[in-house]
Parts: sequence; C-alpha cells; structure tokens
Amino acid sequence: MKRLNGKIALITGSSSGIGAASALRFAEEGAIVVGYDMNEPKAGDWVAATGLQPESFFIQGDVTDSAAVAAAVQQVKARFGRLDILLNSAGIAGAGSVHLVGPEDFDRTIAVNLKGTYLPCHHALPLMMEQRSGVILNLASIEGLEAQEFTASYNASKGAVVLLSKNMAIDYGRWGIRVNAICPGYIETPLTAQMEDPVLRAKVAGDSQLGRFGTPREVANVALFLASDEASYVSGAAMTVDGGTTAGKRLGIAEMFGLAPA
Ligand SMILES: NC(=O)c1ccc[n+]([C@@H]2O[C@H](COP(=O)([O-])OP(=O)(O)OC[C@H]3O[C@@H](n4cnc5c(N)ncnc54)[C@H](O)[C@@H]3O)[C@@H](O)[C@H]2O)c1
Repeated sequence: MKRLNGKIALITGSSSGIGAASALRFAEEGAIVVGYDMNEPKAGDWVAATGLQPESFFIQGDVTDSAAVAAAVQQVKARFGRLDILLNSAGIAGAGSVHLVGPEDFDRTIAVNLKGTYLPCHHALPLMMEQRSGVILNLASIEGLEAQEFTASYNASKGAVVLLSKNMAIDYGRWGIRVNAICPGYIETPLTAQMEDPVLRAKVAGDSQLGRFGTPREVANVALFLASDEASYVSGAAMTVDGGTTAGKRLGIAEMFGLAPA
C-alpha cells in the first residue's frame, strides 16, 4: 500500500526545487498532485510526477494573487471534491541588510514568502474544515529559526511563516487538520544556485555537520512523512532538514584530541 494512495495534494512552487521534488515524491506514493506556479516547466520532477499520476494537472498563477489562488482551490474542489494536502513551497530569496533593502523589495519578499503562504491556507482551510481533515505543510527555513547576516527580509518572512504555521496548528487541530513548518538548511536548487562564490558555498557546506548541501529529494522525503498518516500525531512542529546546521557550534575540539575521522 502506497503512503499517499488516492490523496489529493495542491503544491505551490511545484515547478522547481523542493516543490517539484515533493510533487514527484507524493506522486510516487500514490497522490494526485495539482501544481501551482508562475512558470510551467517542460521537464524535470514536475513533469515526471504528472507522468506517474495522469490525473494531475498544473495551474499557472501567482501566490500573491488572492483571486487566482481561490480559483485554484475551487478547481481542485470541482475536480476531486476534496483537498487532502496543501504544500506551500513557492518562495523567493531576499538579500540585503535593513538599510539596504528598499521598501519595494521588502514588500515583495514578504508578499511572496508570507502572504503567498497565508493565501493558499486561507482559501483551502474552509474545504479542509468541511472535510474535518487535511494536512498543511509550509516551507519556512532555518532562517526562520535563526537569523543570518544580510538576509533581513527573508529572515523576517520565514520567521513569520514558522509562527503562522504554529498558529494554524492551534486553531485548526480541532477540525482534524495538521499544520507543520519545514525548515530546510541549504539545499541544491535554483534558489541557492544564485550563491555562486565557491568560497561561500564551501563555508555553507562546512557549516552542516554532514559537510554538504542537501538535495530537494531529502526535503521531499520529510514532506512525504509529514503529509502521510505516519505523522498522524505531528502538528505545530518546525522541522529542520539541515544536516545538523542548527544543532550547535563545532569548535574543532574533536580534531585537537585526534578524535575526528582521518
Ligand atoms: N533551497 C534552499 O536552500 C531552501 C532553504 C530553506 C528554505 N527554502 C524554501 O523552500 C521553498 C522552495 O525553495 P526552492 O529552493 O525549491 O526554490 P526554487 O526557486 O527552486 O523554486 C521556487 C518555485 O516557486 C515559484 N514561485 C516564486 N514566486 C512565485 C509566485 N509569486 N507565485 C507562484 N510561484 C512562485 C518559482 O517559479 C519556482 O518554481 C521556498 O519557500 C524557499 O524559501 C529553500
């Protein structure tokens, strides 16, 4: 028996990176996936997902457009009569310290990452409440748990996504709805490909206890677990998928005492 047999999943940011990998992982486990993204991909994980589950379909739209998001949820309801899983993965990076980030850039990061998470939840929750069941997964970040230099607007947006998720876990648990945030560390996707400097990339990889970036599929595997009934008592969590990056400091003491592997 597949882990998401017959489940209906709406995935924002489904065309690339973590959203696309999650669509494929969900489809492999029997879910019908509905993608929602500004761009429709011609290849890659999303296309592979639709190949596995032919009832899947794609809706082109912006997560900051309330009417378009509402119409997408209505389309899912009209086609399938229900929505079991909402995965919010659409997101953008936002670089700069506060005095450098202009108001328009700040608004855009908050609009896509925070409002673009709130809107699909806002429109999907009435359907899930009607069903008295549902799972919502929001892609936050380790940068929603710990601040990082030079990413003011991104930090602010992801910190808010963590608390929005916890708020919804409280408000909708009584309807049988589970809500969790997923907090990835650095994952190999087009989002982090913008970070081109090899010295910085090596430092970021070294900050993980596993010495590398993660893959989209490693995050998708966690999303799959949280979406499945195996996580039936998991709600209100902010689950890190970061190879131990936020576990704490490594000061080189093991190396000093010759305890590290050669
Ligand atoms: N990659 C990482 O290292 C990492 C780490 C922590 C958190 N995250 C978060 O995970 C999520 C997915 O990131 P990713 O690395 O897969 O990024 P990605 O750039 O590969 O994919 C993001 C997708 O979102 C879509 N998108 C962007 N703005 C949109 C909008 N306004 N409306 C609709 N779709 C829109 C893009 O078209 C793209 O397909 C994001 O929320 C990101 O902040 C990523």
